Amino acid sequence: MRFILQLAVFIAVLGLSYGQVPSLGKCPKVNVQQNFDINQYMGRWYEMQRFFAIFQISSDCVSADYQLQDSGLVRVNNTGYSKLKRGYTTAIGTAKIMDPNEPAKLGVKFFDGQPYGDYWVLSTDYKTYSVVWSCSEVFFRTFNTQFAWILTRDPAGISDSKRDELIKMMEDYGIKTKHFSRTNQSNCP
Ligand SMILES: *[C@@H]1O[C@H](CO)[C@@H](O)[C@H](O)[C@H]1NC(C)=O
Ligand SMILES: *[C@@H]1O[C@H](CO)[C@@H](O)[C@H](O)[C@H]1NC(C)=O
Repeated sequence: MRFILQLAVFIAVLGLSYGQVPSLGKCPKVNVQQNFDINQYMGRWYEMQRFFAIFQISSDCVSADYQLQDSGLVRVNNTGYSKLKRGYTTAIGTAKIMDPNEPAKLGVKFFDGQPYGDYWVLSTDYKTYSVVWSCSEVFFRTFNTQFAWILTRDPAGISDSKRDELIKMMEDYGIKTKHFSRTNQSNCP
């Protein structure tokens, strides 16, 4: 019992330091976007909602630029306004389709030598919204850590009814959307 508790605390700290939300058990089963078209997905997205994450606690005005390279890899530019630093910070990374049979299951990484982390597009219409999800199982699949985002083409987001629909879809998969918080996209410097 004590061991489980210590393990739970450890996972919680580990999870939060990577900005992920820890849960007991395996990753929930989800469906991803059918016939995912990476070309239509490229360009600028704004972060509307994200799971609570320490490393982003002070970032407003977060956006991502995706650019398909000739190599087939995607260049990722994540930018956010840090209130602490009072300026924009940028992380450049690489994304790719891990298995051409399931093109909506991308991987992304920000450092050479780092393994690709999951970036699964659960649903997108390419023109207004995207639901992105990441889950990894740790400690012999006794725990999982999850991260989710709703990205939008318009910095003002999407309608409440559309957002509710997407949240319901995620809840039906067993994703705990109570961890979502809204990203401030107003009065960006
Ligand atoms: C990343 O995107 C931001 C916002 O569009 C831009 O200002 C910055 O120059 C880009 N950085 C790189 C290295 O591409
Ligand atoms: C949103 O973030 C920007 C940049 O930090 C800030 O200037 C603005 O006041 C914030 N808006 C709200 C409603 O918090």
